Amino acid sequence: MRILGIETSCDESAVCLIEADGGFGPVFRFSVLGNALYSQAALHAQYGGVFPNLAKREHAKNLVPLATDVLTQAGMLHPADGHHLHADGAHLHHLHELLSREPELLRQVLPFLGQHAKPDIDAIAVTRGPGLEPALWVGINFAKALAKAWDLPLIAVNHMEGHIILSMMDLRNPTSGTLRAFEFPLLALLISGGHTELVLSDKFASYRLVGATRDDAAGEAFDKVARLLELDYPGGPEIGRLAAEARAGNTEPEFEFTRPMLHDANFDFSFSGLKTAVRRRVEARQCRGDALTIEFRREIARGFEDAVADVLVGKTMRAVEEFGVSTVIVGGGVSANAFIRQRLADALAAAGSPAALLVPPLSLATDNALMIALAGYFRAIHREFAEPDALKAAGNLSIAAV
Ligand code: KG4
Ligand code: ZN
Repeated sequence: MRILGIETSCDESAVCLIEADGGFGPVFRFSVLGNALYSQAALHAQYGGVFPNLAKREHAKNLVPLATDVLTQAGMLHPADGHHLHADGAHLHHLHELLSREPELLRQVLPFLGQHAKPDIDAIAVTRGPGLEPALWVGINFAKALAKAWDLPLIAVNHMEGHIILSMMDLRNPTSGTLRAFEFPLLALLISGGHTELVLSDKFASYRLVGATRDDAAGEAFDKVARLLELDYPGGPEIGRLAAEARAGNTEPEFEFTRPMLHDANFDFSFSGLKTAVRRRVEARQCRGDALTIEFRREIARGFEDAVADVLVGKTMRAVEEFGVSTVIVGGGVSANAFIRQRLADALAAAGSPAALLVPPLSLATDNALMIALAGYFRAIHREFAEPDALKAAGNLSIAAV
């Protein structure tokens, strides 16, 4: 089955086409026929975070070029064969209506659909949520336009399930893969720019949220601390690099920050107090008129990352023990963090836990459309298709709702 995945929940515009076979187990395999992603991060950097209306406009500009690229890679972009969209008044009217809020997308979709034949694909999967609603809508409307024009079923994907499923893949080379060996029950630590969640699953597509952040997400905390240190958005990778440099210096940590909620008897998180503690340190230095030297930045990054890792690992280990899970999955952009990965692996080993630890390949830890195509595929084999008119962006969509 061939699935075209579309992702626009935040600041990555992404399209991916996969061919996949088999159910959710050892028989599953897939290959990537085409994959394209445009990160808007540099554009949002000037705002220090994602600016929703800019994200929306950018997605509208990017989707047709990305889809064109993907179908070209797959060898599926062929000239229209007699069936001209422009000749079909009803279709055209429907497209105008569908994309009335995305004039830039409409301007590009019309020639794209008009000039090309329907590609040999089976369904279109698109992120329904969670994410920024204006951004989600662009992907959803684009997916609806393609599904209508090509008469294909639509699949609504939960972005967080996409992160979980991607982390479970064995991608020995970047263009094909299988599912890694795993057993239920599994526990997923989802750490991204918008979410910090512990999710329990005892069968495919059934999720229970056992813990979540009460304020900032882990990635948001990385980004905010980076901003305090006058580093570029997204701050996660840069903080990770600086913290590693500090540790390589082999000195004692200079700053010990608070570990919010670490010892509370629950699986929830809080990062806003930690961010405030970091802010106080940075502001105290600025008030003294001292510059944010590289040494200072490194030490702040290290102290902050130590605290985040302690809390994430502490809560995850508590859940591993409480629920007796067989598999631990880490997903979302912050799962690219080498220190957090290592700390979790060490903690599982130290506890003598038999649970397997599954993390995504670094290049696919942050948002992409492969994860949406893969999650969409597993929905499609269960014939869980979305009714186009009822499909709406759901900014706060919970993982427990899928
Ligand atoms: O999953 P993702 O791409 O988007 C959302 O769904 O939010 O996650 C983005 C987040 C950003 O906050 C970014 O700073 C963080 O992931 N991130 C990292 C690293 N790489 C990305 N955080 C810590 N260490 C990293 N290496
Ligand atoms: Zn994400």
